[in-house]
Amino acid sequence: MNTVNLEIQSLTEQHLGAVLELDQACFGGLWTLEGYQRELGSPNSDLLGLYCAGSELKLLAMGCFWSILEEAHITIVAVDPQFQGQGLGQAMLFYLLSTACDRGLERATLEVRVSNVEAISLYTKFGFKTAGRRRRYYQDNGEDALILWLGDIQYPKFQTTLAQWQTLVCDRLRLSGWQIPELGNNNQSS
Ligand SMILES: CC(C)(COP(=O)(O)OP(=O)(O)OC[C@H]1O[C@@H](n2cnc3c(N)ncnc32)[C@H](O)[C@@H]1OP(=O)(O)O)[C@@H](O)C(=O)NCCC(=O)NCCS
Repeated sequence: MNTVNLEIQSLTEQHLGAVLELDQACFGGLWTLEGYQRELGSPNSDLLGLYCAGSELKLLAMGCFWSILEEAHITIVAVDPQFQGQGLGQAMLFYLLSTACDRGLERATLEVRVSNVEAISLYTKFGFKTAGRRRRYYQDNGEDALILWLGDIQYPKFQTTLAQWQTLVCDRLRLSGWQIPELGNNNQSS
């Protein structure tokens, strides 16, 4: 099977059209254009995108976290529905955690719908534990949110964990014909 190289990039204004399309496809419109512009302008927000190398117009996946004190609050992990189930979600989560680690943060946390079994399975696979539940957190349908938590990412031993995840992520991507040559050595442009 031929492999296609992927690239990870910090998203910029020029990507916003593709970002809004992906938001619409995955969440039905979670954030507005102004919302994403605020993210781009915020020093506390990391908004990353995964592309086919050399083809920036096609955004395959995106992820975002806010740095709040010593915490990485993951706000978005989204993969184009056409490309789900190919390892891109775990690649994006890997990059978010790797970037949070580079920022010197101590833990990662997020909220997820209790019905979102795919996402919960993804986060659990990467060591997140349930820390609590927010009742009727989602206004659209009154669904509860699970609060998930991954601690101790500031310690040197988390680098070992990241290296193991890198191998796992690369192997999974390769099965679907994707490759990230410099995974773990973030080659982000801004
Ligand atoms: C959740 C999401 C990001 C997963 O991305 P993906 O690229 O499909 O996931 P991957 O192929 O990398 O799979 C990683 C893990 O996710 C879980 N997963 C993915 N698809 C799954 C499915 N259909 N059923 C159960 N678990 C699933 C599994 O644990 C999987 O690991 P495995 O392959 O070893 O079983 C993707 O489904 C998505 O974008 N959903 C819509 C947006 C969303 O709900 N985001 C999360 C809330 S912010």
